[in-house]
Formats: sequence, C-alpha cells, structure tokens
Amino acid sequence: MANEDKFKKVISHAKEYGYVFQSSEIYDGLSAVYDYAQNGAELKKNIRDYWWKAMVQMHDNIVGIDAAIFMHPTTWKASGHVDAFNDPLIDNKDSKKRYRADVLIEEYCAKIEAKINKEIKKAEKRFGDAFNREEFVSTNGRVLGYQEKIDTILKRLGKSLENEDLADVKALIEELEIADPLSGSRNWTDVKQFNLMFGTKLGASADTAMELYLRPETAQGIFVNFLNVQKTGRMKIPFGIAQTGKAFRNEIVARQFIFRMREFEQMEMQFFIKPGTQKEWFDYWKDTRLKWHKSLGMGDDNYRFHDHEKLAHYADAATDIEFNFPFGFKELEGIHSRTDFDLSQHEEYSGKKLQYFDHEDNASYTPYVLETSIGLDRMFLAVFSNSLVEETLEDGSKRDVLKLPAVLAPTKAAILPLVRKDEALTKMAKDIVEDLKWDFNVVYDEKDAVGRRYRRQDAVGTPFCITVDGESLEDHTVTIRYRDTMEQKRVKIDELRDLIKAEVDVKHWLMKMQ
Ligand code: GAP
Repeated sequence: MANEDKFKKVISHAKEYGYVFQSSEIYDGLSAVYDYAQNGAELKKNIRDYWWKAMVQMHDNIVGIDAAIFMHPTTWKASGHVDAFNDPLIDNKDSKKRYRADVLIEEYCAKIEAKINKEIKKAEKRFGDAFNREEFVSTNGRVLGYQEKIDTILKRLGKSLENEDLADVKALIEELEIADPLSGSRNWTDVKQFNLMFGTKLGASADTAMELYLRPETAQGIFVNFLNVQKTGRMKIPFGIAQTGKAFRNEIVARQFIFRMREFEQMEMQFFIKPGTQKEWFDYWKDTRLKWHKSLGMGDDNYRFHDHEKLAHYADAATDIEFNFPFGFKELEGIHSRTDFDLSQHEEYSGKKLQYFDHEDNASYTPYVLETSIGLDRMFLAVFSNSLVEETLEDGSKRDVLKLPAVLAPTKAAILPLVRKDEALTKMAKDIVEDLKWDFNVVYDEKDAVGRRYRRQDAVGTPFCITVDGESLEDHTVTIRYRDTMEQKRVKIDELRDLIKAEVDVKHWLMKMQ
C-alpha cells in the first residue's frame, strides 16, 4: 500500500474503531484538535503508564510531579518563550496560504533524500545479498552529490535561523525555486516570526485581569519546582523530575492528524546534573530512551537519531529520536542538553536562589539539565500506525489487524460464548469476565458469528479471544486464540490469568530494556 493510502487508512481506522475523533465533529471539527475515544483513551493511558513506570518507578533517583497548566507569566519571559518561541512564517501571495519557511525547505530536502533512497533500492536489487549499504552510500557519486546538497542547504538554513537572518531564509526559498505545494506559485512574501503561545486572561474584570499563557511545554513546571522537590524529597544530584501533561501551541502547519496538534500531551523528564557531566548524561539518555522505544518491538530499523544543526535557545546539544511514520522519518522524541539556562534564568527573574549544595564538593552550583521530551500523541500515532496491517489469509480473504504491543492494548481479552442463545455458555463466559476484570481490561462479546467477532477484535487490537463452547461446560477448558498468529489452543479456565499476564505484564516488556 502506498504511504499516503496507508496514512488515510490509519486515520479512518482510528475513527471506525473508537480510537480518535475529530474534536467537536458535529460542528465540523476544529483544526488540529482531536478527541481520544473509548479505545484511544485506554491506549494513551497505557503508553503514559509505560513511560512513567520506565522513568519514575524503575529509577530510584527520579520522581514525578503534576504541575498546573497556568503558570505565572514571568515564567515565560524567563524561559525565553515570549521572545524566542517563534516559527518563521511565509505567505504565498497568490494562494494566500501560510507556511513555515523552514518546513518548506526541509520538505525540499526530504525530496532529495527520497532520491537517495531510490538509488539505494535500485542498487539493493542489482547486487542482491552482496549489497553493502554503508559502503554504497559512502562511495556512490550520485548519492554523495545528493547528500552534499542536503547538508549545504540545511547548514545554511540553520545558520540563517540562528542569526535571525530571515531575509536569507527567503533568499534560500527563492534560490531553490520552492513553489507553494498547493498552487505551484513562487510569489512569496517576506519571512516573519510568529509566536506560538496561546494567550488567555486570569481574573474577572478587564482592568485587573492578568495576561497568562497556556504552557507550551511542561518542562517549566519542573524547573520552577526544582528546589521544592530537591528539598522535600532530599534528592541528591544526579536526580530527575518527570511529568506528563497537556501543552498548547498555536501551530501554523497543523496537519498530519495527531502528529502536530494545537493541544497535545508531553511526557518530559528533567535530569539535574553536575556541570561538566552533560556529555556523559546526554549519551546515557540517548541510549536509555532508544532502548525504551525498542522494547516495544516495533522494528529496530524504524528509529534513527537526528542531531540538531540549529540548537534551541536553551541547548548546547540536542538530538531527535525519529520514527518511521507512514509519511517518513519524523521527530518522535527530543533529547536536549539544556545547560543551566532555565534555572539561571528563573534565578534572575524571580530573585530566588535555585542552587544545589554538593556535600562531596562542599560547594554550591546551579545544576545543568538533561531533558528527555516525548509527545504522547506522537507516540500514540507511532504505535497505532505501525501496528495496523492488512493481511491476506490462506483462503485469499483479507483481515485488518491492529498488532498493538500487548502491554499497550486497550482491551487484553475478549470473552466469547460460542452460541449466544445457550444460557449455560453465556453464563460461563460472563463468569470468566467477572473473574478476569480484577486484573485486566476485558470485554464480553456475543453478537455475530464467532469468525466475525474474531475479525472485530483483530481490528480493534485485542491480543486474545477466549471462546467458551459446549466442551467448556464439561471440562472447564476454553479456546484461546492469539491475535497475531491466529493460533488457537485449548487451555484450562484456571490457567487464563497467568497466561494473559505473562504476555501483557509491564515487567515482561520493560525487562527487554536491559
Ligand atoms: N521541553 C522541550 C520541548 O518541548 P519540543 O521538541 O518542542 O521540546 C518535545 O517538543 C516533543 O513534544 C516533540 O518531540 C514531539 O513529540 C512533541 N510535540 C511538540 N509539538 C507538538 C505538537 N504540536 N503536536 C504534538 N506533539 C508535539
């Protein structure tokens, strides 16, 4: 299936099976705002829990907090967001459409990258088993030429953005002859900066109301609480503070479903370290976070690092973990070495000391910070899109199956009486539900022929179907069917709990990180 078709299928499947709905759909929706439906809310919660367990529960030096979305407005002055949290925008005079100038240039580079991939595929076909990818990309003239072009463009873009040289960004767009993707027109305005924060007001009367922002990242809630947590938790450096929660950005290029939203959720962790150790911790967190992703078994080749050329105003090093979404490799998580920028800024703006007294060194210092920041919605999209597959079965029929990692699946098992009208069977199936629901999310399903019920559960991503039939009444056994292989086994009802637990238990999955 072509990538574009696959992505369309992901979006329609998410709606059809109760995962994601357009927000306020009955009023024709709100652009780049989405609601999580009955299964989506469960999947999202399971991803959040999987992250929280790996970060907080498994690290004795990381604690979690839940800071408010509203923060004192000076927070955003101190953090640099009021002055520097901007996107460079450009309008097309003919189509009247607005674009992020840097994204137009990056998309141009992505097209060159697609040419590189085409060359690689061709060579792979030609050389077969003897093909050495690394050698090919480092020696093939055409590939090297394309790569050099990409590097030159991105380097210049990074430099212009860093120097706030927006005229050069426009010049680059013109030199590359980039056209409006919709109209094909090259009639561009100048590039201008646009702040991404949403403003709101706190207070009843117009003259006393305080201007606030909806937080554009959860990180600042951690920085302003650094000392409170350190003191009350008697934390010793190195230590981390984790948090999950909503963030808001007035994104201009808001498309690609839940990839880029205006209201979204982040899972962030700020790790406070001794100045000078940031390189070592940067490498540690790169490695640890990649292991977390890989533990879910979504294909090791679907991840890659992308080191930043252009660093955010607070960072001395940064990398993205990119994932192979249906529309190509894109940022899933950021790992940033934030230096002492945030704590120093908050010290300056609040007039309060935010330092750590190191008993070993007998000295105080402002800690440096290593941040890991992942979008929960983006992780949801990665998991959901990667799991959705269309399979052709032996008899030529097709099935849509959502092969979610079992630990994340919203419902772990569906309990199905073979025949709906047989009261003894339905009672036994309902008793199994009553018993298992203390440990897992399970559903009872009696409607339609059992084959159709299997297909329905495959499409919704339920890892196990448990069928109760006439034999069950005699010997207390049931058929357990595995979603991914469609294998069926006869097992004792008493064994069900342990059998399911072995496959869905967080421990079983997180152990893969070691
Ligand atoms: N505190 C650092 C920070 O916020 P970021 O790279 O701007 O860094 C971190 O965002 C992560 O948040 C991204 O890697 C992405 O997964 C997610 N994210 C950012 N903007 C988003 C948006 N508009 N919609 C969905 N997820 C977003």
